[in-house]
Amino acid sequence: MLTFSRETYVERRAALAAALRAVGEDGLVLFVGNVDACAQLKAECYRFRQDSSWLYYFGLDEPGLAATIDLSNGVETLYADDVSEEDMIWIGPQPPVASKAFEAGVEAFKPSAALDGVIAGALASGRKVLFLPPSRYYNTMRLMDLLHISKEEVAAGSLPLIEAVVQMRLVKTPEEIALIDEACDLGYEMHTVGRDLIRPGVVEGDIVDQMDFIATSKGWGVSFGTIFTQHGEIFHNPSHDKVIEPGRMIVVDAGLEAHSHYASDFTRTYPSDGKFTPKQKAIYEIALAAHEKAFSLTRPGVAYRDVHLAAEAVILEGLKAVGIVEGDVAEMVAEGIGGLFLPHGLGHNMGLDVHDMEDLGEDHVGYDPDQKRAGRLGLGSLRMARRLKPGHVITDEPGVYFNVGLIESWRRSGKGSGRINYSLLEKEYYDFGGIRIEDDVLVTPTGARRLGTRRLPVTVSDIESLMLRR
Ligand code: GLY
Ligand code: MN
Repeated sequence: MLTFSRETYVERRAALAAALRAVGEDGLVLFVGNVDACAQLKAECYRFRQDSSWLYYFGLDEPGLAATIDLSNGVETLYADDVSEEDMIWIGPQPPVASKAFEAGVEAFKPSAALDGVIAGALASGRKVLFLPPSRYYNTMRLMDLLHISKEEVAAGSLPLIEAVVQMRLVKTPEEIALIDEACDLGYEMHTVGRDLIRPGVVEGDIVDQMDFIATSKGWGVSFGTIFTQHGEIFHNPSHDKVIEPGRMIVVDAGLEAHSHYASDFTRTYPSDGKFTPKQKAIYEIALAAHEKAFSLTRPGVAYRDVHLAAEAVILEGLKAVGIVEGDVAEMVAEGIGGLFLPHGLGHNMGLDVHDMEDLGEDHVGYDPDQKRAGRLGLGSLRMARRLKPGHVITDEPGVYFNVGLIESWRRSGKGSGRINYSLLEKEYYDFGGIRIEDDVLVTPTGARRLGTRRLPVTVSDIESLMLRR
């Protein structure tokens, strides 16, 4: 049983073919699904995760499939094999390829081995074969073999196909939005379980286990490795072996991938002992103000790049009020001072991937053709800069971080001197950590709405009353 109806997949592929023909393409579109990634022997593989673009256009959630769409006559062909006697021993009887093709609405099907000849024939007759850059290395090698091109050419993919796929997958349909809402509701549960367990003396990993159990018992799994850290200023902090100490801020950034494979991604930051110190409250409220400001600006026509800059301005205004920076806020934004405290982008697209389609190229996905990625810290890491359209699903996740290594590096090089109060940072904030607050947001025709039926508590008073009541 596929996630969507047969008609949905048929319509998506027809729309893709029409978009490609509209820009003058008449070759063969080649899709390769993911294969099993074996940990050791053939029968000992990591859990299978299908390629997301394959899922979007064909829905069949199993390894080893490929398909072509012939743009000259509209013929679609699935390449797959009926289960062999040997495979039958390991995986049992499986539906025949004919019924899989029927489920996906593909009329023609051939054995997998036929693909080489079909592609060789197309190339020999001078036809173009369009393909997406694969996210897995096995498929890179497969495409190198099929197309006789270099690894770099495979990694670049076919631009007209990338652009057509991105345009379609960026704008979510009501059916997709309902599935993302479901993933967000389960993500809410995952976060609630985590928040309720936070207290000094508990090992971080014991809480992560309980959160991840929600993801695996109620959904497909986590949409990315759960981030649970008393050092939120360090973004990739994968170990969860520390005991929770009193007086820390804990960044909990976690998401759930539903059985439909649609993702959620939320971040909350909690005081480890349930009550914010005055300093923690002051910085938290700066991050929250930036988060709310970003949401208030999110609507069709607005470039998310400008929303990032507005969030940065709120952060600098707040840091100015507590004496960490000084000067004109607009000038500081222009000088890139905000990047020291927010060294990542405001958000990213979300859908079948938590960072939707970034395997197709971050700039292809997150930037309009007339937008160029900035070279500076923070804004340069912005993954979604586009002018917003109804149906875009994005994250709103500003933060305020005190990364000592980064601060010291700026200080040594004289960056931000006259703007940044380095001695105050050293005296008061070097053991602070970081704060991030993240919700998932749908752009609507008139503005935006947060995804999921319930919003995770986010104000200081709501968090304190929940944590202190336990
Ligand atoms: N929540 C993880 C990320 O956005 O990178
Ligand atoms: Mn995120």
